Amino acid sequence: MTSTSHAQLPVDDATWWRQAAVYQIYPRSFADANGDGIGDLRGIISRVPYLQGLGIDAVWLSPFYPSALADGGYDVADYRDVDPRIGTLDEFDEMVAALHGAGIRVIVDIVPNHSSDDHVWFQEALAAAPGSPERARYIFRDGLGADGSKPPADWTSMFGGPSWTRVPDGQWYLHLFAKEQPDFNWDNEEVRADFRQTLRFWSDRGVDGFRIDVAHGLTKELGESLPSQAEIDAITEPGAHPLWDRDEVHEIYADWRKVFDEYTPPRIAVAEAWVSTPRRPRYASAEGLGQAFNFDLLEADFDAEQFRTIIADNLALSAASGSSTTWVFSNHDVVRHATRYALPPRNGSTVKQGQKWLLSGGTQPVADVELGLRRARAATLLMLGLPGSAYLYQGEELGLPEVADIPAAERQDPAFFRNPGVDIGRDGCRVPLPWTREGTSLGFGPDGAHLPQPQGFGALSVEAQDGAPGSTLELYRAALALRHELRAAETLDWVRSPADVLHLARPGGWHVVTNFGTHAVPLPDGEVVLTSGPLAGTQLPSSTTAWIRTV
Ligand code: GLC
Ligand code: CA
Repeated sequence: MTSTSHAQLPVDDATWWRQAAVYQIYPRSFADANGDGIGDLRGIISRVPYLQGLGIDAVWLSPFYPSALADGGYDVADYRDVDPRIGTLDEFDEMVAALHGAGIRVIVDIVPNHSSDDHVWFQEALAAAPGSPERARYIFRDGLGADGSKPPADWTSMFGGPSWTRVPDGQWYLHLFAKEQPDFNWDNEEVRADFRQTLRFWSDRGVDGFRIDVAHGLTKELGESLPSQAEIDAITEPGAHPLWDRDEVHEIYADWRKVFDEYTPPRIAVAEAWVSTPRRPRYASAEGLGQAFNFDLLEADFDAEQFRTIIADNLALSAASGSSTTWVFSNHDVVRHATRYALPPRNGSTVKQGQKWLLSGGTQPVADVELGLRRARAATLLMLGLPGSAYLYQGEELGLPEVADIPAAERQDPAFFRNPGVDIGRDGCRVPLPWTREGTSLGFGPDGAHLPQPQGFGALSVEAQDGAPGSTLELYRAALALRHELRAAETLDWVRSPADVLHLARPGGWHVVTNFGTHAVPLPDGEVVLTSGPLAGTQLPSSTTAWIRTV
């Protein structure tokens, strides 16, 4: 690292993550340098100036490891290498140096609940006999029935279809996701040691932190006879579920914390844990991962009351855990928020249904595209005005919509293949980015793109929005630049406002006001510094946020 990068990334700053703006890169769809249609590390390196100009603090890279892509890279065949289609370890080092040189930290994705079935350990398990140490790294069981031909339990996987798959010698293995993603046995000390090695491997290469995939998985309580899916579904007591959110999982994170703290500054981690709100602080505790995703706003309608409650609850919760809260509207698993807000409200359906809805494509009925983008911009400007970390997903800074009409033959997501006719899967938010107005893949690379870009993507390209007043890209750039001043302290005061309006005050005379209602409302006093859309004279129009400063 050069002295400049040290200057920009002070080693004594152990709290950089608390109010960071973190930009998620889905590597295969970000930028393709060599023209094979798949985004790569060279592509990321070439776009470092763009990321620096955007004003983010860190990038989080979704998996770039060797993978057969049964689940977009979340089926990892080797945790300590780069997929040759994406790059090399040397290029990874070059990318980290380039990002650090631009003042941007690097977070990588760790997928500890399951590996790929191509992983050498799973291949060894298949080759070894039932009861062998090789099988003990995964979860193998005999089947039910006289000949063992029935699965050990009737469980449904997260992507639909059964959770157990039979191997040629008759045993079955557990996979809570696709059958190409066998679950690790976290009671096995070799598994634990191997993940410590992986965390050190990337930390030694200069990685600043980790996003922990399915952090509420890993440990399972599997007794001699397994409960049925119906029995499991009936469990409501916190911590009592045999598969998810077991208390024992926190022993693993306490162990990882020791690894993180071997480094200066300590490596950070953020948990992807789809757990109920009261169960979240434990994942975010300083003795554990330190931070956890909060998907509450992502699951809410564009509604003042829902937003008010979620913001207040989560700030209280993070104060209790000592962590900072996180916010996110879009990622590689959900319908992009510009499209979500273009659809009718969900009216508080439960998390599980919400997840189903979000993952199912959600393109019926027809979307009001203009309204969706207007609300998405207002919601984002509100989020960037909140205390805590903001996680952004590549392309949202362009206001990209979900791509709904990808032909079946071109789809890649296992959620699509395992739920024919029910779930269109998550490919629609993973379409390669448009960088230019024209060209075979709109500047994504010198040739094609691994998922088809729709009509109209070129008009939303970086080239089309760069320097264009009022564009979504310029809104993100302006907000992220101003956010450095606005986030001076992690505090927020609510200012009395009409029911459809949220008005919050931040230190330094900053005010963030969002009108969720259908009619314009008078703007509060002060200098209007930034708005998510045009004002109507002295009025704040419907579905618009303003950042205001008073002296
Ligand atoms: C997480 C990832 C998702 C993946 C799943 C299984 O939820 O975000 O993309 O399919 O884990 O690894
Ligand atoms: Ca490529």
